[in-house]
Amino acid sequence: MNSFSSNVNKTLQSNTFLGLIVGENVITLQRVNSTNDYLKSKLSNSTPYQEGTVIMAVEQYAGKGQAGNTWVSEAGQNLTLSILLNPTFLLPKEQFRLNIAISLAIIECIKPILGESVRIKWPNDIYVNNKKIGGILIENIIRGSKWKHAIIGIALNVNQTSFGIQKTKACSLKKLLNKDFDLHKLLKLLCAAVSKQYHVLKKGGHLLQRELYKQCLFRFNTPSSFLIDGVQVIGTITDVDDQGKLIIDFDGHLTKFCIKEISFVI
Ligand code: BTN
Repeated sequence: MNSFSSNVNKTLQSNTFLGLIVGENVITLQRVNSTNDYLKSKLSNSTPYQEGTVIMAVEQYAGKGQAGNTWVSEAGQNLTLSILLNPTFLLPKEQFRLNIAISLAIIECIKPILGESVRIKWPNDIYVNNKKIGGILIENIIRGSKWKHAIIGIALNVNQTSFGIQKTKACSLKKLLNKDFDLHKLLKLLCAAVSKQYHVLKKGGHLLQRELYKQCLFRFNTPSSFLIDGVQVIGTITDVDDQGKLIIDFDGHLTKFCIKEISFVI
């Protein structure tokens, strides 16, 4: 057994104690517009999917990214999936805690393969050496003041090697390590990691998770360039608050930003 397979087995064994096993029910679709939209429309038609159900696409022809962007992924080469979670134990204003848990799960899944260079670019892009290897799009279904469902859209670039000229900042496991990976094994590892981090969150572990998240942040505690209102500035990321705002130190002055207010200069 190679180290990747043995890691899959160990992770699965150590997660069998968890209440919710993400990925017990995996629905694989050959071709779909967006796994997030598919899951959302099934839920709106009252399809009784169990929590932890995974909708996995071989090909996604209208994949959605953050901030209204599209997400393009070569058919059959990558992980493009949505996970149904029902985080009724959190308030809608605590949404960022789930972002943190899912980001940590992806890191936990790929760090054994890629090592310490794996980072979370705030708020939830997955980066390796200044290049994006994955992303997260969480869509919430909230009724009144209650959080009913979270649709956890995850993309992880695995075996795709060419991303087109506009996507110079994209990378994949294969581009980095020059070998193919088994998508089903990776899916199992990812589901096990999501089960674990979700369990930790449910048991009240959000403060610890936020600390771990900060330690994994791209350019944490490192003076870096940012764009604010079109102006390039240098500051240092020092913290992230419970709402997910980024806290940057500009010569001793701490300022909080939400996603639309700041971007990284990479
Ligand atoms: C990002 O912009 O970084 C987030 C990308 C999230 C893409 C995934 S692919 C599976 C799921 N279905 C979608 O339409 N989007 C998410």
